[in-house]
Amino acid sequence: MENKRFPEGFKWGVATASYQIEGSPLADGAGTSIWHRFSHTPGTTHNGDTGDVACDHYHRYKEDVAIMKELGVKAYRFSIAWPRIFPYGRGKINLKGIDFYDRLVDELMNAGIEPFITLYHWDLPAALQEKGGWMNRDIAGWFADYADYVFQKLGDRVKHWITLNEPWVTAFIGHMFGTHAPGVKDVFAAFEVVHNQLRAHSRAVEAFREENLDGEIGITLSNHSQAPASQSEADVMAAKIAHEQVNYPLFLNPIFKGDYPEHLLSVAKEYFPKDYKRDMGDIKKPIDFVGINYYSGSLVKADPSAPLGIKSVDRGLEKTEMGWEIYPEGLYDILKGLQDTYNPREVFITENGAAFNDKVENGAVHDEKRIDYLKLHFEQALRAIGDGVKLKGYFVWSLMDNYEWAEGYSKRFGIVYVDYETQKRILKDSAKWYSKVIANNSL
Ligand code: FCB
Repeated sequence: MENKRFPEGFKWGVATASYQIEGSPLADGAGTSIWHRFSHTPGTTHNGDTGDVACDHYHRYKEDVAIMKELGVKAYRFSIAWPRIFPYGRGKINLKGIDFYDRLVDELMNAGIEPFITLYHWDLPAALQEKGGWMNRDIAGWFADYADYVFQKLGDRVKHWITLNEPWVTAFIGHMFGTHAPGVKDVFAAFEVVHNQLRAHSRAVEAFREENLDGEIGITLSNHSQAPASQSEADVMAAKIAHEQVNYPLFLNPIFKGDYPEHLLSVAKEYFPKDYKRDMGDIKKPIDFVGINYYSGSLVKADPSAPLGIKSVDRGLEKTEMGWEIYPEGLYDILKGLQDTYNPREVFITENGAAFNDKVENGAVHDEKRIDYLKLHFEQALRAIGDGVKLKGYFVWSLMDNYEWAEGYSKRFGIVYVDYETQKRILKDSAKWYSKVIANNSL
């Protein structure tokens, strides 16, 4: 029989992010974030939805930790809202902000769940946006100071740190397409933001090493597998460029090899900051692990009239509620490519999951499609481990239904259903299934 067991000690987890679940974004002295401003700007989000209430996790975190304990999850990835701690982004500290995360970490430790903290999952203090936010070079120092404070406060208990979540999304959805906060539409700004995020990441890693804490630090990157639509030279090259642009190479090539990826540079050099090379010595710096987020993939065709000469085409596969094709093999390709190219010490899948149109029937949610989706992706993860990928854990996105950014509450990604009227949590069938996978450490 095929071996469906995961390695001993595999960290099965669930993931969330502050603005998506907490609610009460301005409570107890917190500052305004760019997502608060953006979602309160008419016409930016589905139905005008905001994170004002979300899952009310800010008040219900004990119940949510109890749910995780019941499911048997080993690790919980969540993010810290920078403006809760530094209401103006820097300078004055809000003790009530750090206190919330302090209590959350204790609650997790008492439940035997390992905290994995993301320092930045998109809710930048609005006061920093007024100074240019990620477009201002000074942000590297602002971020490192904030990160250092959190290391000092929580580093005695937290052993896994993620500097940035999906910096590609911050750069391109936030600063080129403008459909995420801060809503900038400027391709040059987007590449500047790529660069400044790398600089900020690097400064935070430096601060972490200087604290001399026991623990590991890495970065989480978004990925969408990019395969050529044909074996023509043009399509193969287009797929290479697309892969370097949207996936881990854009950030890991600088971190591991000290320059942006070569095929991308061959078509997009003009967009990068002119003197970017002066920072590459600082950016190239060892990290302890790489976090991979993966949901979907598409085929790539060369198209001279499209941006960077690249066009995405569907494979005609089944799609989730997000309109994303279900392509589990893409997860294997991403993991294998990552290990072969950069050989990171450790890899975590920091997000994988799917939105479906879930319905409550007699108090239950029969989300068979989500179970199928997860199972197919777990199998690809296992295959990657068998082929030498140093995958140490897997975080399902998400613990519970939550605020899906510009899509508001219209997309449900949770393995736990949230009734937003009553804030009642209901375990979906996928949560019960996942709980068994974890208990058996096997499919
Ligand atoms: C990722 C984000 C996460 C969530 C999922 C569906 O890009 O990191 O916050 O929205 O997509």
